[in-house]
This record gives sequence, structure tokens and C-alpha cells, in this order.
Amino acid sequence: MKSLSYGRQWIDEDDIAEVVNVLKGDWLSQGPTVQLFEASLAEYIGVRETVVFSSGTAALHGAVAAAGLREGDGMLTTSMTFAATANAALYMGAEPVFTDISRDTLCMDPIEAKIKLSKSPRKIKAILPVSFAGYPFDIEPFRAMAGEYGAVLIEDACHSLGGVRGLRDGKPRKVGRDADMTAFSFHPVKHITTGEGGAVATDDAEYARRLRLFRNHGITRSAGEFEEEAEGPWHNEMRMLGFNYRLSDIQCALGLSQLRRLSMFIAKRRELAEMYRSMFAGLEGVCLPPSLEGHAWHLFPIRVGAEIRAALFAHLTENDIRPQVHYIPVPMHPYYKKRFGYKKGDFPEAERYYESALSLPLYPSMERADVEKVVSCIESFFGEIGRGRQ
Ligand SMILES: Cc1ncc(COP(=O)(O)O)c(C=O)c1O
Repeated sequence: MKSLSYGRQWIDEDDIAEVVNVLKGDWLSQGPTVQLFEASLAEYIGVRETVVFSSGTAALHGAVAAAGLREGDGMLTTSMTFAATANAALYMGAEPVFTDISRDTLCMDPIEAKIKLSKSPRKIKAILPVSFAGYPFDIEPFRAMAGEYGAVLIEDACHSLGGVRGLRDGKPRKVGRDADMTAFSFHPVKHITTGEGGAVATDDAEYARRLRLFRNHGITRSAGEFEEEAEGPWHNEMRMLGFNYRLSDIQCALGLSQLRRLSMFIAKRRELAEMYRSMFAGLEGVCLPPSLEGHAWHLFPIRVGAEIRAALFAHLTENDIRPQVHYIPVPMHPYYKKRFGYKKGDFPEAERYYESALSLPLYPSMERADVEKVVSCIESFFGEIGRGRQ
């Protein structure tokens, strides 16, 4: 039997056939499947443009570059995220300014964000909250702050493709429509995969143009953008320093095929999260993650006592269940501590959360029996330490 890991891809025969089709064709990269995937993704989210990248990290790098972040600027972000979120600022010579998280959402705390914005000695050029675990936090306060402080709002939605906001107000909007730019990841544990891959969604044509330029060495082939007179049909111009952050047609074929099943993937994730929630009811010692209609449920992070978390992790692993811990708060990594002087206690909510967090298996091909196995394994652990069900 396959071990249950905290996340995994779901590849079917259609996915394989679509990839093989591209492999047999003329374009392995920079071909029509890239444009098709971008157009389909934009349609799914409900934005004018998406620009695909070779990873979510590259997508974030592209977004901060398009936002104009440069040396000396600040970028407000959350301490409870993957390092790639904050690293995006460093790539530009800018500095991440971290906030603690709100206990209710596990996402950036808007009250602290406001304080950090008003006190920052640096110009905060971008605000970059993360919809942690897939939770579609209320983005309005951050939009207001971005407006007030002249910052660009970039959502790191690497956990929340397919999430929906505004359901309570009867104005449903897919995650990806509310920020100036929104970054996604297509890593195998994410909602859809291209192996490695990512995208930025935006309604702004100028951001999309900059993103495309950045993804391709900073080189343009559009005659309308040339600064100098074209010397022939081969003419192209490097206009800025960019990277090769392209996603291949092979990967986009997989992405397109996966996208067709995204609604089903999300529905399954929501069903599984509900199963966990009802099966854990009454089990003292397990604190469930915040839930909200429209949640994309990338992760199912429970909290247990910090003193038993490592033992529970080991107990699950011994039973062929592979949980994960998301995340060591970014400023607590040695690199950040050494470079910026952060120390234990600087982000109390995020640190407390990290000490007790455990992400349980959650991926769409899981079945009820898998959820039962995880829950009963946790129950047996609590039974052994004398903290069984009431
Ligand atoms: C919140 C967050 N941001 C950014 C990334 C980077 O995405 P990628 O792995 O596709 O580079 C990840 C990846 O796990 C992530 O979880």
C-alpha cells in the first residue's frame, strides 16, 4: 500500500496522452501550448492575463520585479510562509519586513501590517500576504493599505489556486482577482501540477508586459516596443536584465490537462477536509485549522501540544503516514537571523503556531479509508498517552 504523504500529484492517462502529443509535435518550448495554458488559466481565474513561469518562486520574482522593487525598498510580508515568498524581496536588493500572523486565520495580521507600514524607515513598495494553507483571508484591509501607502499588492496564492472569496456577500471571486498581481505554484503537491511551474495572474496589461519581458532575459521581439530601428526581421532588443524563467510546452500540456480537473480536485479537497473535521470532533488535544467557505485546502494543518508534536510525528511516520510541518517562520531561519538579527520571540504567534503545527495528508486522490487511517492513528497515539476521546 502507498504511504500517505502530506501531499501528492494525481496524474491520469489523459495527462500522459496530452504530454506525449506535445512531445511528438514541433514545439517543445515557446510554442502555442504555452499561450493556450495561459489563456485557459486566465479564463478559469477570471482575469485578463496570466503569465506562466518555471516555478512559483520565479513567478514571485517576476511579480516583485514588475512592481518595481529595488535596492533599499521594503516588502511587507508574513513570517508564516515558505522562504521563497520573502526571498523574492532579497533578489531585488530589497528587504522583507515581516509581520506576525493572526491567530484566527494563520495569515498576515492586518493590525500589525498597518503598524509596520506606518513605522517602516524604508519605503514599502509591495505588500505580499499569503493565503496560507488555502485560506482565502479578507484581502480588503490590505488593498486599502496598499492604496494609502502607494504600494503594489501581490498575493502569494501558491496555496490557494481555486479558492474563492466573497461567497458571504454573494459576490464570489476566484483567488487571483483581488491583488494587483497574484502568484501561483504548480509544484506536485499543489492544486494542479506541471512538475515544476508557476504563474502570475493580473488584470493590468503593463504588469503582464513586464512579466513576459522578465521571464525571457528582458528581451522583446515586439516591433512596437523597439527603441532602435530594426535592422531586419531578426531584430530583438534586450531592454532590461531578465532571466530564463520560461515554462515549456511539455509542462503547459500537463497544466492544461490538469486544469480541466481542477474543479474536481478542489471539490475532493473540500470533502476530505470536511471528513477530517467531523472525524476529529470530540478528540481533545487536536486543534483544527481555520475553515471558511471557499477555502482551497492545500494543507490540513492541525495543532497539537508542542510537547507531543515530535512524538506524534514519529508515530505517524512509523505507521507509513508522512506528515509535514509548515513552516519554520522565515525570520527564524539561520540565514535571516544572521543577516537581519531576528531572534526567538520576535513573532510570537507564528512561533507558537510553528511549535504545534502538523500538516496531515490531504490530496484529491485520497479516499475516506485514508482519512480514517490517519485519524485512527492519531487517536491511538492519544490513547497511548492517556488523552483519548471524551
Ligand atoms: C507559500 C509559497 N510560496 C512560494 C512557493 C514557491 O513555489 P515553487 O515551489 O513552485 O517555487 C511555495 C512552494 O511551496 C509556497 O508554498
